[in-house]
Amino acid sequence: MTRQACEGNAAPGGDPGRPGDEPEVEMVGIVKRFPNGVLANDHAELRLAPGEIHALVGENGAGKSTLMSVLYGLIAPDAGEVRVRGVPTRFRSPIDASAAGMGMVHQAFRLFPSMTVAENVVYRAEPQRLRGVLDRAAAHREVADLATRHGLQVDPRARVASLSVGVRQRVEILKALYREARVLILDEPTAVLTPQETALLFDVLRNLRASGRTAVIVTHKLGEVLEISDSVTVLRDGRTVARLTTADTDAHEIARHMTGRSVDLDGRWVPGRPAGPVLEVDRLTVPGTAGRPAVDDVTLQVRSGEIVGIAGVAGNGQVELLEAIAGLRGAERGSVRVDGTSLDPLSAGQRRRAGIAYIPEDRAATGSAVDAPVGDNLSMGFHRQPPLRRGWTMDRKAARQHAERIVGALGIKVRSAAVPAATLSGGNLQKLIVGREMAHDAPVLLVDQPTRGVDIGAIENIHARLRAYRDAGHAVLLTSAELSELFALADRLAVMFEGRVVAVLPRETATEEEVGLAMSGIAPGARPPGGEGER
Ligand SMILES: Nc1ncnc2c1ncn2[C@@H]1O[C@H](COP(=O)(O)OP(=O)(O)OP(=O)(O)O)[C@@H](O)[C@H]1O
Ligand SMILES: [Mg+2]
Repeated sequence: MTRQACEGNAAPGGDPGRPGDEPEVEMVGIVKRFPNGVLANDHAELRLAPGEIHALVGENGAGKSTLMSVLYGLIAPDAGEVRVRGVPTRFRSPIDASAAGMGMVHQAFRLFPSMTVAENVVYRAEPQRLRGVLDRAAAHREVADLATRHGLQVDPRARVASLSVGVRQRVEILKALYREARVLILDEPTAVLTPQETALLFDVLRNLRASGRTAVIVTHKLGEVLEISDSVTVLRDGRTVARLTTADTDAHEIARHMTGRSVDLDGRWVPGRPAGPVLEVDRLTVPGTAGRPAVDDVTLQVRSGEIVGIAGVAGNGQVELLEAIAGLRGAERGSVRVDGTSLDPLSAGQRRRAGIAYIPEDRAATGSAVDAPVGDNLSMGFHRQPPLRRGWTMDRKAARQHAERIVGALGIKVRSAAVPAATLSGGNLQKLIVGREMAHDAPVLLVDQPTRGVDIGAIENIHARLRAYRDAGHAVLLTSAELSELFALADRLAVMFEGRVVAVLPRETATEEEVGLAMSGIAPGARPPGGEGER
Protein backbone atom coordinates (compact mmCIF):
# COMPACT_ATOMS: atom_id res chain seq x y z
CA MET A 1 0.00 0.00 0.00
CA THR A 2 1.28 3.46 -0.71
CA ARG A 3 1.07 6.22 1.76
CA GLN A 4 -2.07 8.33 1.73
CA ALA A 5 -0.26 11.31 0.31
CA CYS A 6 -3.35 13.12 -0.79
CA GLU A 7 -3.28 16.05 1.57
CA GLY A 8 -1.76 18.19 -1.11
CA ASN A 9 1.37 19.36 0.62
CA ALA A 10 3.76 16.80 -0.79
CA ALA A 11 7.25 17.94 -1.64
CA PRO A 12 7.35 19.84 -4.90
CA GLY A 13 7.75 17.59 -7.85
CA GLY A 14 8.62 14.52 -5.83
CA ASP A 15 7.36 11.20 -4.72
CA PRO A 16 6.43 11.97 -1.15
CA GLY A 17 7.28 8.50 0.07
CA ARG A 18 11.01 8.72 -0.14
CA PRO A 19 13.62 9.95 2.34
CA GLY A 20 15.28 13.19 1.46
CA ASP A 21 12.05 15.02 0.71
CA GLU A 22 10.52 17.62 2.94
CA PRO A 23 10.68 16.28 6.49
CA GLU A 24 7.66 14.40 7.70
CA VAL A 25 8.23 15.87 11.15
CA GLU A 26 10.51 18.58 12.45
CA MET A 27 10.88 19.40 16.10
CA VAL A 28 12.72 22.66 16.52
CA GLY A 29 14.07 24.25 19.72
CA ILE A 30 11.97 22.12 22.04
CA VAL A 31 12.30 23.20 25.67
CA LYS A 32 10.63 21.43 28.57
CA ARG A 33 11.28 22.18 32.19
CA PHE A 34 9.35 20.11 34.72
CA PRO A 35 7.79 21.80 37.75
CA ASN A 36 10.60 20.40 39.93
CA GLY A 37 13.09 22.41 37.91
CA VAL A 38 14.54 19.59 35.77
CA LEU A 39 15.34 20.82 32.28
CA ALA A 40 14.48 17.64 30.36
CA ASN A 41 14.60 19.13 26.86
CA ASP A 42 16.90 22.05 26.22
CA HIS A 43 16.35 23.21 22.64
CA ALA A 44 16.14 19.64 21.38
CA GLU A 45 15.89 19.09 17.64
CA LEU A 46 14.53 16.13 15.72
CA ARG A 47 14.00 15.71 12.01
CA LEU A 48 12.21 12.70 10.58
CA ALA A 49 12.32 12.11 6.85
CA PRO A 50 9.28 10.46 5.27
CA GLY A 51 9.68 6.73 4.91
CA GLU A 52 12.61 6.35 7.26
CA ILE A 53 13.31 4.52 10.49
CA HIS A 54 14.95 6.94 12.84
CA ALA A 55 16.69 5.98 16.07
CA LEU A 56 16.64 8.32 19.05
CA VAL A 57 19.39 7.52 21.54
CA GLY A 58 20.97 9.02 24.64
CA GLU A 59 21.88 8.19 28.20
CA ASN A 60 19.29 7.59 30.88
CA GLY A 61 17.62 10.89 31.64
CA ALA A 62 18.80 12.55 28.41
CA GLY A 63 15.22 13.52 27.59
CA LYS A 64 14.18 10.94 24.98
CA SER A 65 10.84 9.97 26.52
CA THR A 66 10.05 13.61 27.19
CA LEU A 67 10.68 14.51 23.55
CA MET A 68 8.49 11.61 22.38
CA SER A 69 5.76 12.72 24.77
CA VAL A 70 5.89 16.17 23.22
CA LEU A 71 5.61 14.64 19.77
CA TYR A 72 2.54 12.68 20.84
CA GLY A 73 0.87 15.62 22.54
CA LEU A 74 1.22 14.21 26.05
CA ILE A 75 3.46 17.04 27.21
CA ALA A 76 3.20 20.66 26.13
CA PRO A 77 6.66 22.13 25.58
CA ASP A 78 7.59 25.46 27.17
CA ALA A 79 9.09 26.60 23.87
CA GLY A 80 9.79 25.31 20.41
CA GLU A 81 7.78 24.14 17.49
CA VAL A 82 6.59 20.89 15.97
CA ARG A 83 6.14 20.97 12.20
CA VAL A 84 4.31 18.25 10.38
CA ARG A 85 5.22 18.27 6.71
CA GLY A 86 6.29 21.83 7.03
CA VAL A 87 3.16 23.02 8.82
CA PRO A 88 3.66 24.37 12.36
CA THR A 89 1.28 22.62 14.73
CA ARG A 90 0.39 22.74 18.36
CA PHE A 91 -0.70 19.49 19.97
CA ARG A 92 -2.83 20.08 23.01
CA SER A 93 -3.45 16.37 23.50
CA PRO A 94 -2.79 12.98 21.92
CA ILE A 95 -6.06 13.45 20.05
CA ASP A 96 -4.52 16.39 18.17
CA ALA A 97 -1.31 14.47 17.57
CA SER A 98 -3.20 11.46 16.32
CA ALA A 99 -5.24 13.62 13.95
CA ALA A 100 -1.96 14.93 12.56
CA GLY A 101 -0.78 11.40 11.85
CA MET A 102 1.24 10.59 14.96
CA GLY A 103 0.83 7.13 16.48
CA MET A 104 2.33 6.00 19.77
CA VAL A 105 3.15 2.34 20.25
CA HIS A 106 2.84 2.09 24.00
CA GLN A 107 4.63 -0.57 25.95
CA ALA A 108 1.79 -2.97 25.31
CA PHE A 109 0.34 -2.80 28.78
CA ARG A 110 -2.39 -0.34 27.96
CA LEU A 111 -4.66 -2.81 26.24
CA PHE A 112 -7.78 -4.29 27.78
CA PRO A 113 -6.87 -7.91 28.47
CA SER A 114 -10.43 -9.22 28.49
CA MET A 115 -11.27 -7.74 25.09
CA THR A 116 -10.34 -9.19 21.73
CA VAL A 117 -7.59 -7.88 19.52
CA ALA A 118 -10.11 -6.27 17.15
CA GLU A 119 -12.06 -4.63 19.96
CA ASN A 120 -8.86 -3.14 21.33
CA VAL A 121 -7.74 -1.92 17.94
CA VAL A 122 -10.97 -0.10 17.11
CA TYR A 123 -11.60 1.07 20.67
CA ARG A 124 -12.92 4.64 20.54
CA ALA A 125 -12.79 4.67 16.75
CA GLU A 126 -15.32 1.91 16.22
CA PRO A 127 -17.20 1.20 13.04
CA GLN A 128 -20.78 1.61 14.20
CA ARG A 129 -23.88 -0.08 12.95
CA LEU A 130 -26.29 2.09 14.83
CA ARG A 131 -25.22 4.96 16.95
CA GLY A 132 -23.26 3.56 19.86
CA VAL A 133 -23.44 -0.06 18.77
CA LEU A 134 -20.20 -1.72 17.75
CA ASP A 135 -20.36 -3.54 14.46
CA ARG A 136 -18.25 -6.45 15.61
CA ALA A 137 -18.16 -8.24 12.27
CA ALA A 138 -17.00 -5.11 10.50
CA ALA A 139 -14.37 -4.53 13.17
CA HIS A 140 -12.98 -8.04 12.81
CA ARG A 141 -12.92 -7.73 9.05
CA GLU A 142 -11.19 -4.37 9.02
CA VAL A 143 -8.60 -5.40 11.57
CA ALA A 144 -7.88 -8.69 9.80
CA ASP A 145 -7.49 -6.78 6.57
CA LEU A 146 -5.18 -4.20 8.10
CA ALA A 147 -3.07 -6.90 9.73
CA THR A 148 -2.64 -8.80 6.48
CA ARG A 149 -1.79 -5.67 4.55
CA HIS A 150 1.07 -4.87 6.92
CA GLY A 151 2.30 -8.38 7.52
CA LEU A 152 1.33 -8.28 11.17
CA GLN A 153 0.50 -11.78 12.26
CA VAL A 154 -2.27 -11.63 14.80
CA ASP A 155 -5.70 -13.18 15.19
CA PRO A 156 -8.32 -10.40 15.51
CA ARG A 157 -10.60 -12.66 17.54
CA ALA A 158 -8.01 -13.64 20.15
CA ARG A 159 -8.37 -12.24 23.65
CA VAL A 160 -5.48 -9.95 24.49
CA ALA A 161 -5.00 -11.72 27.83
CA SER A 162 -3.89 -14.84 25.98
CA LEU A 163 -1.20 -13.07 23.94
CA SER A 164 2.54 -12.76 24.49
CA VAL A 165 4.12 -9.35 24.98
CA GLY A 166 5.42 -9.38 21.42
CA VAL A 167 1.98 -9.99 19.94
CA ARG A 168 0.41 -7.36 22.20
CA GLN A 169 2.89 -4.91 20.82
CA ARG A 170 1.64 -5.77 17.33
CA VAL A 171 -1.86 -4.92 18.55
CA GLU A 172 -0.55 -1.52 19.65
CA ILE A 173 0.93 -1.02 16.20
CA LEU A 174 -2.38 -2.01 14.60
CA LYS A 175 -4.15 0.50 16.82
CA ALA A 176 -1.93 3.26 15.51
CA LEU A 177 -2.32 2.11 11.90
CA TYR A 178 -6.09 1.87 12.27
CA ARG A 179 -6.01 5.56 13.14
CA GLU A 180 -4.01 6.14 9.96
CA ALA A 181 -0.78 7.04 11.68
CA ARG A 182 1.98 8.03 9.30
CA VAL A 183 4.55 8.37 12.05
CA LEU A 184 5.01 5.63 14.62
CA ILE A 185 6.63 6.51 17.92
CA LEU A 186 8.18 3.55 19.74
CA ASP A 187 9.80 4.24 23.12
CA GLU A 188 12.04 1.28 23.99
CA PRO A 189 9.84 -1.28 22.24
CA THR A 190 12.48 -3.99 22.39
CA ALA A 191 13.17 -3.72 26.12
CA VAL A 192 10.41 -6.21 26.82
CA LEU A 193 10.97 -8.49 23.83
CA THR A 194 12.92 -11.67 23.33
CA PRO A 195 15.49 -11.58 20.51
CA GLN A 196 13.05 -13.55 18.32
CA GLU A 197 10.23 -11.08 18.98
CA THR A 198 12.58 -8.20 18.26
CA ALA A 199 13.43 -9.71 14.87
CA LEU A 200 9.71 -9.92 14.07
CA LEU A 201 9.12 -6.33 15.17
CA PHE A 202 11.92 -5.18 12.90
CA ASP A 203 10.36 -7.01 9.97
CA VAL A 204 7.12 -5.16 10.64
CA LEU A 205 8.95 -1.82 10.80
CA ARG A 206 10.69 -2.54 7.51
CA ASN A 207 7.32 -3.31 5.93
CA LEU A 208 5.90 -0.06 7.21
CA ARG A 209 8.88 1.80 5.88
CA ALA A 210 8.31 0.20 2.49
CA SER A 211 4.76 1.57 2.57
CA GLY A 212 6.13 5.05 3.12
CA ARG A 213 5.57 5.36 6.82
CA THR A 214 8.03 6.84 9.26
CA ALA A 215 9.10 5.36 12.57
CA VAL A 216 11.09 6.78 15.43
CA ILE A 217 12.44 4.22 17.83
CA VAL A 218 14.13 4.73 21.18
CA THR A 219 16.56 2.02 22.19
CA HIS A 220 19.66 1.57 24.33
CA LYS A 221 20.93 -1.30 22.22
CA LEU A 222 23.35 0.09 19.70
CA GLY A 223 23.32 -3.15 17.75
CA GLU A 224 19.63 -2.55 17.12
CA VAL A 225 20.27 1.03 16.08
CA LEU A 226 22.74 -0.16 13.47
CA GLU A 227 20.47 -2.94 12.32
CA ILE A 228 17.17 -1.16 11.92
CA SER A 229 17.65 2.59 11.54
CA ASP A 230 18.39 4.82 8.57
CA SER A 231 19.49 7.75 10.67
CA VAL A 232 20.17 8.56 14.30
CA THR A 233 19.63 11.50 16.61
CA VAL A 234 21.69 11.63 19.81
CA LEU A 235 20.39 13.54 22.81
CA ARG A 236 22.59 14.56 25.69
CA ASP A 237 21.32 16.51 28.69
CA GLY A 238 18.22 17.47 26.75
CA ARG A 239 20.12 18.77 23.74
CA THR A 240 20.56 17.28 20.30
CA VAL A 241 24.30 16.71 20.01
CA ALA A 242 24.48 14.68 16.80
CA ARG A 243 22.51 13.65 13.76
CA LEU A 244 24.06 10.74 11.94
CA THR A 245 23.39 8.62 8.91
CA THR A 246 23.46 5.06 10.20
CA ALA A 247 25.38 3.69 7.23
CA ASP A 248 28.18 6.17 7.91
CA THR A 249 28.63 5.57 11.61
CA ASP A 250 29.35 2.80 14.12
CA ALA A 251 28.55 1.89 17.71
CA HIS A 252 31.68 3.51 19.08
CA GLU A 253 30.96 6.85 17.47
CA ILE A 254 27.35 6.83 18.67
CA ALA A 255 28.48 5.91 22.19
CA ARG A 256 31.00 8.73 22.16
CA HIS A 257 28.31 11.24 21.22
CA MET A 258 26.04 9.90 23.94
CA THR A 259 28.53 9.98 26.76
CA GLY A 260 31.27 12.34 25.68
CA ARG A 261 33.86 9.64 26.35
CA SER A 262 34.86 6.33 24.89
CA VAL A 263 32.96 3.38 26.31
CA ASP A 264 34.03 -0.23 26.56
CA LEU A 265 31.22 -1.77 24.54
CA ASP A 266 32.48 -5.30 24.50
CA GLY A 267 32.40 -5.85 28.22
CA ARG A 268 35.32 -8.23 28.42
CA TRP A 269 34.93 -11.12 30.79
CA VAL A 270 37.24 -11.04 33.79
CA PRO A 271 37.45 -14.47 35.42
CA GLY A 272 36.55 -14.76 39.08
CA ARG A 273 38.35 -16.81 41.69
CA PRO A 274 35.69 -19.14 43.01
CA ALA A 275 36.08 -20.82 46.39
CA GLY A 276 33.64 -23.05 48.25
CA PRO A 277 29.94 -23.47 47.45
CA VAL A 278 27.58 -20.88 48.91
CA LEU A 279 24.30 -21.50 47.12
CA GLU A 280 23.39 -25.14 46.59
CA VAL A 281 20.25 -26.05 44.70
CA ASP A 282 19.53 -29.76 44.78
CA ARG A 283 17.00 -31.50 42.52
CA LEU A 284 14.62 -28.58 42.72
CA THR A 285 11.24 -29.01 41.04
CA VAL A 286 8.73 -26.20 40.84
CA PRO A 287 5.19 -26.72 39.57
CA GLY A 288 4.22 -24.92 36.37
CA THR A 289 1.13 -24.75 34.25
CA ALA A 290 -0.55 -27.50 32.26
CA GLY A 291 0.82 -30.23 34.47
CA ARG A 292 4.37 -29.55 33.42
CA PRO A 293 6.96 -28.39 35.96
CA ALA A 294 8.32 -24.89 35.43
CA VAL A 295 11.58 -26.00 37.00
CA ASP A 296 12.36 -29.64 36.52
CA ASP A 297 14.86 -31.41 38.77
CA VAL A 298 17.48 -28.67 38.73
CA THR A 299 20.76 -29.12 40.53
CA LEU A 300 23.14 -26.20 40.54
CA GLN A 301 25.81 -24.67 42.71
CA VAL A 302 27.15 -21.17 42.90
CA ARG A 303 30.42 -20.73 44.70
CA SER A 304 31.72 -17.76 46.59
CA GLY A 305 33.54 -15.48 44.17
CA GLU A 306 31.60 -16.84 41.23
CA ILE A 307 28.95 -15.60 38.82
CA VAL A 308 26.81 -18.29 37.26
CA GLY A 309 24.78 -17.12 34.29
CA ILE A 310 21.55 -18.84 33.30
CA ALA A 311 21.04 -18.78 29.56
CA GLY A 312 17.79 -19.75 27.91
CA VAL A 313 15.03 -18.62 25.63
CA ALA A 314 12.59 -16.60 27.74
CA GLY A 315 10.05 -18.79 29.48
CA ASN A 316 12.15 -21.89 30.02
CA GLY A 317 12.05 -21.70 33.81
CA GLN A 318 14.74 -19.12 34.52
CA VAL A 319 12.47 -16.72 36.39
CA GLU A 320 10.71 -19.53 38.28
CA LEU A 321 14.07 -20.91 39.38
CA LEU A 322 15.14 -17.56 40.83
CA GLU A 323 11.75 -17.02 42.45
CA ALA A 324 11.83 -20.45 44.04
CA ILE A 325 15.29 -19.81 45.46
CA ALA A 326 14.14 -16.45 46.80
CA GLY A 327 11.12 -18.14 48.41
CA LEU A 328 8.56 -16.32 46.29
CA ARG A 329 7.37 -19.54 44.68
CA GLY A 330 6.79 -22.88 46.33
CA ALA A 331 8.82 -25.92 45.32
CA GLU A 332 7.38 -29.36 44.93
CA ARG A 333 10.61 -31.21 45.57
CA GLY A 334 14.25 -30.54 46.19
CA SER A 335 16.18 -28.23 48.44
CA VAL A 336 18.03 -24.94 48.57
CA ARG A 337 20.94 -24.35 50.94
CA VAL A 338 23.03 -21.28 51.68
CA ASP A 339 26.35 -21.91 53.40
CA GLY A 340 25.18 -25.38 54.22
CA THR A 341 21.97 -24.28 55.95
CA SER A 342 18.68 -25.36 54.45
CA LEU A 343 16.33 -22.56 53.44
CA ASP A 344 13.46 -24.89 52.69
CA PRO A 345 11.27 -24.05 55.69
CA LEU A 346 11.88 -20.30 55.32
CA SER A 347 9.59 -17.63 53.90
CA ALA A 348 10.79 -15.04 51.40
CA GLY A 349 11.40 -12.53 54.19
CA GLN A 350 13.34 -15.05 56.24
CA ARG A 351 15.41 -16.05 53.23
CA ARG A 352 16.26 -12.42 52.70
CA ARG A 353 17.54 -12.20 56.26
CA ALA A 354 19.36 -15.48 55.75
CA GLY A 355 21.41 -13.87 53.02
CA ILE A 356 19.57 -13.83 49.71
CA ALA A 357 19.07 -10.62 47.77
CA TYR A 358 16.89 -10.68 44.66
CA ILE A 359 16.63 -8.16 41.85
CA PRO A 360 13.65 -9.26 39.76
CA GLU A 361 13.08 -8.36 36.18
CA ASP A 362 10.01 -6.25 36.79
CA ARG A 363 11.19 -3.10 38.47
CA ALA A 364 7.69 -1.99 39.34
CA ALA A 365 7.19 -5.11 41.41
CA THR A 366 10.36 -4.86 43.46
CA GLY A 367 8.94 -2.84 46.24
CA SER A 368 9.73 0.42 44.56
CA ALA A 369 7.03 2.81 45.67
CA VAL A 370 7.06 5.26 42.82
CA ASP A 371 5.04 7.90 44.63
CA ALA A 372 7.45 7.89 47.58
CA PRO A 373 10.64 9.94 47.56
CA VAL A 374 13.80 8.44 46.09
CA GLY A 375 15.38 8.50 49.56
CA ASP A 376 12.61 6.38 51.10
CA ASN A 377 12.86 3.95 48.23
CA LEU A 378 16.56 3.56 48.92
CA SER A 379 16.03 3.11 52.68
CA MET A 380 13.49 0.37 52.12
CA GLY A 381 14.77 -2.85 53.65
CA PHE A 382 17.42 -0.99 55.64
CA HIS A 383 15.12 1.05 57.82
CA ARG A 384 14.78 -1.49 60.62
CA GLN A 385 18.43 -1.85 61.49
CA PRO A 386 21.38 0.38 62.31
CA PRO A 387 22.81 2.63 61.08
CA LEU A 388 19.54 3.87 59.60
CA ARG A 389 17.53 2.95 62.68
CA ARG A 390 18.51 4.59 65.97
CA GLY A 391 16.35 3.60 68.90
CA TRP A 392 12.78 4.20 67.87
CA THR A 393 13.44 6.60 65.09
CA MET A 394 15.09 6.77 61.76
CA ASP A 395 18.45 8.48 61.68
CA ARG A 396 17.77 11.09 58.98
CA LYS A 397 21.41 11.85 58.43
CA ALA A 398 22.39 8.20 58.09
CA ALA A 399 19.50 7.67 55.70
CA ARG A 400 20.62 10.59 53.59
CA GLN A 401 24.20 9.35 53.50
CA HIS A 402 22.99 5.88 52.55
CA ALA A 403 20.95 7.36 49.69
CA GLU A 404 23.79 9.58 48.53
CA ARG A 405 26.15 6.62 48.47
CA ILE A 406 23.89 4.61 46.19
CA VAL A 407 23.00 7.57 43.97
CA GLY A 408 26.71 8.34 43.55
CA ALA A 409 27.81 4.75 43.00
CA LEU A 410 25.26 4.02 40.30
CA GLY A 411 25.32 7.49 38.77
CA ILE A 412 21.58 7.94 39.27
CA LYS A 413 20.46 11.15 37.65
CA VAL A 414 18.28 12.84 40.24
CA ARG A 415 18.26 16.32 41.72
CA SER A 416 17.60 15.33 45.31
CA ALA A 417 16.55 12.30 47.30
CA ALA A 418 13.34 14.12 48.18
CA VAL A 419 11.78 13.91 44.72
CA PRO A 420 9.26 11.12 44.04
CA ALA A 421 10.76 8.08 42.38
CA ALA A 422 8.09 8.45 39.69
CA THR A 423 9.94 11.44 38.26
CA LEU A 424 13.04 9.36 37.51
CA SER A 425 13.58 8.28 33.95
CA GLY A 426 13.11 4.56 33.28
CA GLY A 427 16.78 3.66 33.35
CA ASN A 428 17.45 5.66 36.49
CA LEU A 429 14.71 3.80 38.35
CA GLN A 430 16.36 0.54 37.32
CA LYS A 431 19.72 1.78 38.63
CA LEU A 432 18.06 2.71 41.93
CA ILE A 433 16.82 -0.83 42.48
CA VAL A 434 20.07 -2.48 41.45
CA GLY A 435 22.00 -0.15 43.77
CA ARG A 436 19.68 -0.70 46.70
CA GLU A 437 19.71 -4.49 46.45
CA MET A 438 23.48 -4.67 46.06
CA ALA A 439 23.88 -2.47 49.14
CA HIS A 440 22.54 -5.35 51.24
CA ASP A 441 25.86 -7.10 50.66
CA ALA A 442 24.04 -10.43 50.88
CA PRO A 443 26.15 -13.57 50.36
CA VAL A 444 23.86 -14.62 47.53
CA LEU A 445 22.62 -12.22 44.88
CA LEU A 446 19.98 -13.34 42.41
CA VAL A 447 19.59 -10.97 39.51
CA ASP A 448 17.29 -11.04 36.52
CA GLN A 449 18.01 -8.71 33.57
CA PRO A 450 20.36 -6.43 35.53
CA THR A 451 20.77 -3.84 32.80
CA ARG A 452 17.39 -3.76 31.09
CA GLY A 453 16.62 -0.19 30.07
CA VAL A 454 19.89 1.28 31.27
CA ASP A 455 22.25 3.12 28.97
CA ILE A 456 25.62 1.85 27.76
CA GLY A 457 27.64 3.81 30.30
CA ALA A 458 25.47 2.45 33.09
CA ILE A 459 25.82 -1.09 31.74
CA GLU A 460 29.58 -0.75 31.99
CA ASN A 461 29.18 0.51 35.57
CA ILE A 462 26.68 -2.16 36.67
CA HIS A 463 28.84 -4.89 35.14
CA ALA A 464 31.89 -3.60 37.01
CA ARG A 465 29.87 -3.53 40.23
CA LEU A 466 28.59 -7.06 39.76
CA ARG A 467 32.17 -8.25 39.23
CA ALA A 468 33.31 -6.39 42.34
CA TYR A 469 30.43 -7.93 44.26
CA ARG A 470 31.58 -11.36 43.16
CA ASP A 471 35.19 -10.57 43.97
CA ALA A 472 34.17 -9.59 47.49
CA GLY A 473 33.45 -13.30 47.95
CA HIS A 474 29.74 -13.39 47.17
CA ALA A 475 27.83 -15.79 44.95
CA VAL A 476 25.88 -14.32 42.04
CA LEU A 477 23.24 -16.14 40.03
CA LEU A 478 22.28 -14.13 36.96
CA THR A 479 19.84 -14.37 34.09
CA SER A 480 19.77 -12.17 31.04
CA ALA A 481 18.09 -12.15 27.67
CA GLU A 482 21.34 -10.80 26.27
CA LEU A 483 23.76 -13.60 25.59
CA SER A 484 26.54 -11.04 25.32
CA GLU A 485 25.81 -9.91 28.87
CA LEU A 486 26.09 -13.48 30.17
CA PHE A 487 29.35 -13.92 28.32
CA ALA A 488 30.67 -10.67 29.76
CA LEU A 489 29.89 -11.61 33.35
CA ALA A 490 29.46 -15.31 34.02
CA ASP A 491 32.21 -17.70 35.08
CA ARG A 492 29.97 -20.60 34.22
CA LEU A 493 26.91 -20.79 32.00
CA ALA A 494 23.94 -22.97 32.88
CA VAL A 495 21.56 -23.41 29.97
CA MET A 496 17.89 -24.00 30.73
CA PHE A 497 15.47 -25.65 28.35
CA GLU A 498 11.90 -26.60 29.28
CA GLY A 499 12.63 -26.22 32.96
CA ARG A 500 15.76 -28.34 33.00
CA VAL A 501 19.39 -27.39 33.12
CA VAL A 502 20.57 -29.07 29.96
CA ALA A 503 24.18 -27.92 30.03
CA VAL A 504 26.64 -26.30 32.40
CA LEU A 505 29.59 -24.86 30.52
CA PRO A 506 32.73 -23.17 31.79
CA ARG A 507 33.07 -19.65 30.39
CA GLU A 508 36.66 -20.22 29.22
CA THR A 509 35.62 -22.71 26.61
CA ALA A 510 31.95 -21.95 25.95
CA THR A 511 31.00 -20.45 22.60
CA GLU A 512 27.86 -18.50 21.79
CA GLU A 513 27.03 -21.11 19.20
CA GLU A 514 27.25 -23.97 21.68
CA VAL A 515 25.06 -22.09 24.17
CA GLY A 516 22.60 -21.15 21.42
CA LEU A 517 22.24 -24.78 20.40
CA ALA A 518 21.67 -25.89 23.97
CA MET A 519 19.06 -23.14 24.36
CA SER A 520 17.08 -24.65 21.54
CA GLY A 521 17.15 -28.04 23.19
CA ILE A 522 20.06 -29.50 21.27
CA ALA A 523 22.61 -30.24 23.93
CA PRO A 524 26.08 -30.38 22.42
CA GLY A 525 28.36 -32.96 23.92
CA ALA A 526 25.11 -34.39 25.30
CA ARG A 527 25.35 -33.79 28.99
CA PRO A 528 23.16 -36.02 31.11
CA PRO A 529 19.52 -35.04 30.88
CA GLY A 530 17.98 -33.56 34.02
CA GLY A 531 21.28 -32.37 34.13
CA GLU A 532 23.52 -30.81 36.25
CA GLY A 533 26.80 -31.98 34.87
CA GLU A 534 28.35 -31.12 38.17
CA ARG A 535 27.51 -33.85 40.59
N1 LIG B 1 7.10 14.02 35.28
C1 LIG B 1 8.34 14.42 35.57
N2 LIG B 1 8.56 15.29 36.57
C2 LIG B 1 9.81 15.70 36.85
N3 LIG B 1 10.92 15.31 36.20
C3 LIG B 1 10.76 14.45 35.19
C4 LIG B 1 9.47 13.95 34.83
N4 LIG B 1 9.62 13.10 33.78
C5 LIG B 1 10.94 13.07 33.51
N5 LIG B 1 11.63 13.88 34.35
C6 LIG B 1 13.08 14.13 34.35
O1 LIG B 1 13.43 14.61 33.07
C7 LIG B 1 14.69 14.09 32.66
C8 LIG B 1 14.52 13.39 31.31
O2 LIG B 1 13.70 12.24 31.50
P1 LIG B 1 13.29 11.27 30.31
O3 LIG B 1 12.33 10.31 30.88
O4 LIG B 1 12.87 12.08 29.15
O5 LIG B 1 14.69 10.56 30.00
P2 LIG B 1 15.02 9.37 28.98
O6 LIG B 1 16.04 9.89 28.03
O7 LIG B 1 13.77 8.81 28.43
O8 LIG B 1 15.75 8.33 29.96
P3 LIG B 1 15.69 6.69 30.00
O9 LIG B 1 16.70 6.22 29.03
O10 LIG B 1 16.15 6.37 31.38
O11 LIG B 1 14.31 6.26 29.71
C9 LIG B 1 15.14 13.16 33.77
O12 LIG B 1 16.05 13.88 34.58
C10 LIG B 1 13.88 12.86 34.54
O13 LIG B 1 14.17 12.61 35.89
MG1 LIG C 1 12.76 6.95 28.64
